[in-house]
Amino acid sequence: MSSTISQNVSDCSSTADMPDELPELVGLAIPRHVAIIMDGNGRWAQAKGQPRVMGHRAGVKAVRRAVTTAKQLGVRSLTLFAFSSENWRRPDQEVTLLMELFFTVLQREIKLLHKNGVRLNIIGDTSRFSARLQKQIITAQQHTANNDELILNVAANYGGRWDILHAAQQLAEKVQAGQMSPAEFTEEALAQHLSMPGQDDVDLMIRTGGDFRISNFILWQAAYAELVFTDSLWPDFDEAAFHHAVSVFSGRQRRFGLTGSQIEAIKTSG
Ligand code: IPE
Ligand code: IPE
Ligand code: MG
Repeated sequence: MSSTISQNVSDCSSTADMPDELPELVGLAIPRHVAIIMDGNGRWAQAKGQPRVMGHRAGVKAVRRAVTTAKQLGVRSLTLFAFSSENWRRPDQEVTLLMELFFTVLQREIKLLHKNGVRLNIIGDTSRFSARLQKQIITAQQHTANNDELILNVAANYGGRWDILHAAQQLAEKVQAGQMSPAEFTEEALAQHLSMPGQDDVDLMIRTGGDFRISNFILWQAAYAELVFTDSLWPDFDEAAFHHAVSVFSGRQRRFGLTGSQIEAIKTSG
């Protein structure tokens, strides 16, 4: 059996050493990489008779909570879907507001992220953003570049298909330049040119907002992710909801193509 498979099966850390204040989590398998499709902001606001933008603002608080919870749990990478490559199709006014909010949040939150040892990494095609926003992204990333408590990947103008295409284009250019042969165009080589190289593949993908789809979020790196869907709208997603998703994850048997008995054998052999 390949070492990668047994590594995958037993890789998630356990909460055996979890601090006393989280007794409900003792013994759970903790995903190393959690990705969240933060959906439902607009409906949250509309249900309160407020404009959709109020939902996006409330969503920022939920982001702060999710980062704190991920860090407490010992998650290594948290990847949040903030703006998809398809979200440009929304009314101009909403897109402009989202861009402004993104800029303000980057500016305002970076010190706190840094203080908490979080490394910020923006994934997606940032070239479509304003020069001012692109500059803010670079500053924020540089400020937190040496932190290693948690990697916070924020997906902005991100699409799973774009990610794969972009990686393939880079490899194609290398082949054309004679720097590699087509035979060296392998899964590993492609993975190294995707967003988040060197980070674990996604273990747990959560979607709030009640829909059951991936909406072109992480495709390649989530090929074997456990999917958890919740009706909670993103602004309502709190620590308890995050813990619940982790306990659902922990209760799943991840088989990676093997049989259940093979998995049990790997676990008992330790
Ligand atoms: C997710 O919430 C945030 C973004 C896509 C930017 P939505 O804005 O999609 O909220 P709903 O799905 O319309 O309620
Ligand atoms: C997915 O939500 C994108 C983000 C959460 C940023 P959408 O609301 O855009 O997804 P669809 O359009 O309902 O699939
Ligand atoms: Mg939505």
